[in-house]
Amino acid sequence: MTMEASGGKSSELTDLQIELIHGSWEKVKPNKKYHGERLFNVAPHLQELFPFGSDLTNPMFTMHALNVMNTLDLAVQHLDKLDILIPKLKELGQMHAAFELTEVEFQYVGESLIWVLETGLGDDFTPKLKKAWCDAFAIITSVMLGAIKDING
Ligand code: HEM
Repeated sequence: MTMEASGGKSSELTDLQIELIHGSWEKVKPNKKYHGERLFNVAPHLQELFPFGSDLTNPMFTMHALNVMNTLDLAVQHLDKLDILIPKLKELGQMHAAFELTEVEFQYVGESLIWVLETGLGDDFTPKLKKAWCDAFAIITSVMLGAIKDING
């Protein structure tokens, strides 16, 4: 499966990768609440990019972490329906244009996702599965960042 992202970069997910992602996501979904905690432990400075103040116990932070994971859920359900997924991700990227995001911030978010998967799946998180998830998150990053760059230049 080939995808043209907004930035002109193309990414590919095979049917097998999509199948692997579907199976693993069902197992790890209950752990999704840990994503935000992990993100701010690893990269506390990201907090400054959010307009929610300096108190990490502000429920808006938790809410955003769930927003991220719900976006992943949507992506997982639509990896074989990119015509539906890509416009939604573009819209989400446009909505994030004000937050000055670059590849670096997306990388932190992606690494926290991988941590949640690794922690939840243990030995079942094989190198093949990790690659599938990295490729899937690269699609999300590419489309969202492409939309952000289209606005911010
Ligand atoms: C560190 C990087 C990011 C920053 C600073 C950021 C910031 C924000 C802010 C300030 C909001 C508005 C308040 C809110 O609804 O919580 C928001 C909303 C949202 N963000 Fe992010 N965001 C980041 C990364 C991401 C990523 C990677 C995703 C998805 C994969 C994402 C998904 C969402 C969603 C789904 C919403 C709600 C949109 C809506 O209400 O229509 N964010 N983000």
